[in-house]
Amino acid sequence: MARPKVSIVGAGAVGATAAHWLAERGVADVHLVDIIEGLPQGKALDLQEAAPLRGYDARVTGANNYDGVAGSAVVVVTAGIPRKPGMTRLDLLKVNTGIVGGVVAEVSKRARDAILVMVTNPLDMMTYLAMRKSGFPKTRVTGMAGVLDSARFRTFIALELNVSVKDVDAMVLGGHGDSMVPLPRYSTVSGVPITELLPQERIEALVKRTREGGAEIVNLLKQGSAFYAPGLSIVEMVQGFLLEERRLLPCCCWLEGEYGLNGVFAGVPAILSRGGVEKVVELKLTDSERAMLTKSAEEVRTGQADVDKILAG
Ligand code: NAI
Ligand code: 2OP
Repeated sequence: MARPKVSIVGAGAVGATAAHWLAERGVADVHLVDIIEGLPQGKALDLQEAAPLRGYDARVTGANNYDGVAGSAVVVVTAGIPRKPGMTRLDLLKVNTGIVGGVVAEVSKRARDAILVMVTNPLDMMTYLAMRKSGFPKTRVTGMAGVLDSARFRTFIALELNVSVKDVDAMVLGGHGDSMVPLPRYSTVSGVPITELLPQERIEALVKRTREGGAEIVNLLKQGSAFYAPGLSIVEMVQGFLLEERRLLPCCCWLEGEYGLNGVFAGVPAILSRGGVEKVVELKLTDSERAMLTKSAEEVRTGQADVDKILAG
């Protein structure tokens, strides 16, 4: 059987890292697209030349146009610019709405059956934009953030308790921003909730560090943002779709009544299958957890309204 094709638009730090992991896992052929002349072709060739050393047969290609996107099972969008000094959140939203809107228009013409995995920030708004621009059903438009935020929470829990990350699971809901909702009650070490293992003040410190996880890396790097863990988080989702693994992963999903939220994208646990987001899973939340999720989703709703205004000119 032919390998499925995954296209990644934006061959920068995150896009290229995702391509690396995807090729290495042999899950799919990978096609990189970027506006910078030679960049996607060069990174693709480099990854192809790494294949004999690692022993993978995936084909890795690159281009500055969208022709090669046709036939993709999944298209990942990481194209955009990061927030620069002096830029407001709205300035960034305007620029990336222009970039991502154009990308999704091109992609959706050529890969009408693809699942879109959005990555560009502000993530939840870009996922909304992708749904509007593509006209794809909600099952085939999703965003990556929860896998990354949960991986960060898992890391901090494992470091705190000095246990293997293999035994740590964690769940983070909500938008990909300061108001995200890490859920200690649903975060466990070998099935034991961390609320049984750590004092409240330590849990609060880990939650805070998770919420600020992206900024912590930006402050260290000085230029650019995280890409290793984001790249692999993308691959977890893509693999979940392509291999029909039926993974239950936190993803940015369009809600129509789940968690009492309607007409808004938010990070929630979902079962992934070959057709896309098969089912949003509703966890039982306490009043305070539900209030935090609602607050986070309402912030996304405001951002969605900003996207609507930008698109209306
Ligand atoms: P980067 O700057 O290294 O890469 C972005 C790439 O997009 C560049 O190569 C650029 O040439 C390309 N690009 C710009 N306009 C384009 C267009 N019109 N068509 C095709 N390509 C275009 O940035 P990086 O570090 O890879 O981050 C990418 C995005 O992902 C950023 O918005 C970042 O904030 C976001 N991000 C989101 C995460 C999440 O959890 N959702 C995690 C990490 C990053
Ligand atoms: C992150 O969380 C910047 O959204 C990016 O690392």
